Amino acid sequence: MNGGKQRRIQQALFMNGHTSNILESMVGVGDMVLLDPLTEEACINNVKRRFYAEDIYTYIGQVVVSVNPYKKVPLFSPGTIQTYRGRNLYELPPHIYAIADDAYRSMRDRNRDQCVIITGESGAGKTEASKIVMQYVAAVCGKGEEVDRVKEQLLQSNPVLEAFGNAKTLRNDNSSRFGKYMDIEFDFKGDPIGGVITNYLLEKSRVVRQTEGERNFHIFYQLLQGAPQSLLNKLRLSGTCEKYGYLNQSHCVAVDTIDDAAHFQVTENAMRVIGFTETEIQQVFEVVTAVLKLGNADFESYISFNGTEACSLTDEHSIEEVCKMIQCDHEQLKQALTNRTMDICITGLSERVVSTLSSGQAVYARDAVCKAMYSRLFSWLVGRINDSIKVRTRGKKKVMGVLDIYGFEVFEDNNFEQFVINYCNEKLQQIFIELTLKEEQDEYVQEGIEWSHIDYFNNSVICQLIEKKNTGILAILDEECLIGGNASDHSFLNKLNEVCIRHEHYESRKKKSCRSDKTLPYDCFRLRHYAGSVTYNVQGFLDKNNDLLFRGLSQTMFSCDHQLVKKLFPDGNPRRQTKKRPPTAGTQFKNSVAELMKNLLAKNPNYIRCIKPNDVKSPNLFDDSVVRHQVRYLGLMENMRVRRAGYAYRQPYDQCLQRYKMLCPNTWPNWLGHPREGLQALLTHLRVKPTEYAKGRTKLFIRNPRTLFDLEERRRDKMEDLAIIIQKVFRGWRQWKLYQAMRASQILISAQFRGYRQRKSYQLQRNSAVTIAAFFRGWKARQLYKQMKYEKLCIWSVGIIRKYFLGWQARKLCRQIRHEKRCIWAANVIRAYYIGWKVRKEYRKRFRANAAPKIVSFLRNCVRRKYLLFLHSRLAALPCSLLSKDWPRSPIICHTTNKHLRKIYHGWRCRKYREMLDEETRRIMREKLSASEIFRGRKTLYPETVPRPFKGDYVQLRQNINWRRVTDSTGESEVYFSDIVYKINRSNAKDSLRLMVLCDTSMLIVNQKTLAIKYRLPVTEIAGISVSPYMDNLFVIHINQTGEEASRKGDFVFHSEHLVEIVSKLRDQAERAKGAQVPVRISNTFSAQFNGKGIQVEFVETGLNGKMPVCKRKDDQLDVLV
Ligand SMILES: Nc1ncnc2c1ncn2[C@@H]1O[C@H](COP(=O)(O)OP(=O)(O)OP(=O)(O)O)[C@@H](O)[C@H]1O
Ligand SMILES: [Mg+2]
Repeated sequence: MNGGKQRRIQQALFMNGHTSNILESMVGVGDMVLLDPLTEEACINNVKRRFYAEDIYTYIGQVVVSVNPYKKVPLFSPGTIQTYRGRNLYELPPHIYAIADDAYRSMRDRNRDQCVIITGESGAGKTEASKIVMQYVAAVCGKGEEVDRVKEQLLQSNPVLEAFGNAKTLRNDNSSRFGKYMDIEFDFKGDPIGGVITNYLLEKSRVVRQTEGERNFHIFYQLLQGAPQSLLNKLRLSGTCEKYGYLNQSHCVAVDTIDDAAHFQVTENAMRVIGFTETEIQQVFEVVTAVLKLGNADFESYISFNGTEACSLTDEHSIEEVCKMIQCDHEQLKQALTNRTMDICITGLSERVVSTLSSGQAVYARDAVCKAMYSRLFSWLVGRINDSIKVRTRGKKKVMGVLDIYGFEVFEDNNFEQFVINYCNEKLQQIFIELTLKEEQDEYVQEGIEWSHIDYFNNSVICQLIEKKNTGILAILDEECLIGGNASDHSFLNKLNEVCIRHEHYESRKKKSCRSDKTLPYDCFRLRHYAGSVTYNVQGFLDKNNDLLFRGLSQTMFSCDHQLVKKLFPDGNPRRQTKKRPPTAGTQFKNSVAELMKNLLAKNPNYIRCIKPNDVKSPNLFDDSVVRHQVRYLGLMENMRVRRAGYAYRQPYDQCLQRYKMLCPNTWPNWLGHPREGLQALLTHLRVKPTEYAKGRTKLFIRNPRTLFDLEERRRDKMEDLAIIIQKVFRGWRQWKLYQAMRASQILISAQFRGYRQRKSYQLQRNSAVTIAAFFRGWKARQLYKQMKYEKLCIWSVGIIRKYFLGWQARKLCRQIRHEKRCIWAANVIRAYYIGWKVRKEYRKRFRANAAPKIVSFLRNCVRRKYLLFLHSRLAALPCSLLSKDWPRSPIICHTTNKHLRKIYHGWRCRKYREMLDEETRRIMREKLSASEIFRGRKTLYPETVPRPFKGDYVQLRQNINWRRVTDSTGESEVYFSDIVYKINRSNAKDSLRLMVLCDTSMLIVNQKTLAIKYRLPVTEIAGISVSPYMDNLFVIHINQTGEEASRKGDFVFHSEHLVEIVSKLRDQAERAKGAQVPVRISNTFSAQFNGKGIQVEFVETGLNGKMPVCKRKDDQLDVLV
């Protein structure tokens, strides 16, 4: 046996022991179904004994009877809540907690929406019971930030609604003056997620009038007693409650059991918890204050000029403050209170008529607007709370409703309010009867269970009397309201007498049996309700049912700038005016009660029947007659009898089998036959006595709740076993899955590792193999290389040897050939000498001595003559060009002569050419010659300028008429050179275009457009010229340091496309004028004088190749990039 189960059994043993102790020590009987004898007296005695023993709860089956203790009893604590949590109804003493727990678990676990219907007369403890239910549910359901927030908001809705909707009455110091039905909504886990509150007909007449000894709604007193001074100042509230007409008329302000000041804090705090904003809270208090102050407005009558009665405010100040607070036009409100505006249809045309009101009518209007304002404020509060607590999540909801509606009321003077309240209680009693008495008995008959009928009073006749369609009291009242004109409360009573006089539950002085009944006044009718007879005074029935507010008043309220007041009177909006008559208060109430009944019938009901022990709110008095009356009209005896004779539990066979099938091996996991037989097998297996159950047509009925609880207990144990099996299987499965996963992981890891190891080892082997192979291949290659080297050496050696051999052979052959040749030559020489000697010897005798030199000389001369003749014949054909190199060849002996002749011929040809030249050409040639002397072999630019002729006047200045004027002023006649040049600025090295003109005696720098002379440099001033050895066209003209020009400006730097020409011409001109040499320096660095300052000019070759050089002036340096 596992630990959990052991613990549960121990707990059960403890609990059972505890239960038996409880049962032993229980006063009377906890469940009155067990009463013996089952009489009214025994019932009252039992309740009485328990009341005095502070056991205020007693069961009738599953219905809780609660007696109001009128004192604190030690039955409510968190510990007690925990004791009742999850326990069955009969395990512990009767308690509302047990009912609440049963309902909550039923909703959560069985998915059945629940409602807790709390009934009883005023002061019986319904509201307290509803709070106990809500507290229990809040305590046992889940926890969490959001759940706690929702719970807190739901719980805090009670103090707010009680402050505004409860009041002290003669019967109850905290009497609910409205009906409340609250749906608490849960999610699938059973955690609260929100709720909806429905309110029913607030007793608004209390706002303006209270019976002696009763009070207005609590909030008025709370505000005046408990609000901080700052708030009172803001609301301009001062003084005590007695100062206000709506609070002082009943002469009841302070109540011992109520601490208004403390309750104000609770109410204000609850509003904040629910989510009201500070502005909203302020506005709510402003509306309450407005009602209070408006109640003080008084009127005095006077007769107006047209003879009708009119009235005016006795003290306008009273409404001035109200107007300020609700931001309303003072005059408009005054008008609306003292006049009435009506649209009257005269001859088909609608006409607006304003009539004055008497002081009485004005008070009526004032009260009407106050009642409307307060009751609408109350409905707005409910709506606002609903906004805060509404469910914000989607998904399926489970609902538990708690109904706390005003209890049955019998006052000395009962009016329309009591009529509708009691009607509502009739309807609730109807539901109770329907569900617990009638339906149950009908079901036994239907199901064929042996049953002897138990009589009870069915109040449906009273409900019919009130609500029947055309002849019910509410219908007659509506009809009278519709008639208008002559209709009055008395005509309504007359109509009632006409229609209902024969009804057994209706009584009036017109009824025969009541004609002499002095307790029934003439303007009253009496209804014999299920809970007793109530006499209703018809006065005010029509007005209250009509519930009309003068249109002028609603429009005035709508016209207020106060946000909340405006919201409360949407019917005052002139644009939304409808001619349609709104449903009467009675009809509205009837409809909402019908809606409520429908809602309750759709849920599983749980009953709390509240009983009050006495009429004087005493904790020590149990008034038998008061309780007997309640026991009777609540139908408790009938309830007990039906319960005792009947069965505690029933359920359709299939559902029942489904729920308990795990308790029998035959029905678990599935029963294939009919569920009824399955259940029989199950009950037999469980040895349940046949007297404990009955089988109906479709349902199984279990007589005793204990049998059911026993079944439930076994089921819970079994469920635990099943859960353990499921857990076991699940854990096994989970472990198996885990094992599988681990195994797979292990296989994967080992596979990966093996793979890794193999890869490593393979890598090692491979590397080794590669190394070995590499070494082997290296060794083999070296071997081969050695061999090849050896072979090559051998081949080379062979080659060398061969070469040496061949050389030796060749030399040998050569020597041999040479030897042979020398031998041949020697032989020839010898032969020639021999032949010569022979010839000479032969011919000596024939020739004179020395004839040979003469022959040789002769031969030579012949050759020379032949050469000269040949030259003569060729000379004419030679080209005239000086550059031609053509010249005939000569015999060896004439070589020297030929050379000389050639030179002479060239000289002669040059002279001829020179003689052909004119003076101009000669000058040009001289200039070219001069340029050649300067630049040849010294400047890279020079060779390419050689073929270009020196044109001199490039801009054709000589033909320019304007130039003539210049020459006239300067006296210079000849232009040797003119061209556009760039002048390089000395200070910033920037260039500018200028016209350079070289004349007879000076060089002019002229503006190229205007021909205005910028500088005039006499050529005698030129001390020298410097250029670079590169391809650039930049040149510097050095000026005599002593000259005037030099002292002013210094040396000139120019760039000219015709550098070679201008430089050579300048030099020649200067030399000619000075009669001394002017040096032209060709160097990549030289110094110059700029403005009397020595500057180093340096040329740097950057490959610009003749393009415009880049000049950079830096301190004493001028860099020229060429
Ligand atoms: N369980 C309780 N323990 C202590 N006092 C209680 C209990 N139930 C009711 N009372 C007392 O009885 C008073 C009236 O109870 P409650 O307001 O619940 O009556 P009610 O049935 O709601 O009446 P009404 O129909 O007028 O609203 C409470 O103010 C409280 O003093
Ligand atoms: Mg109440």
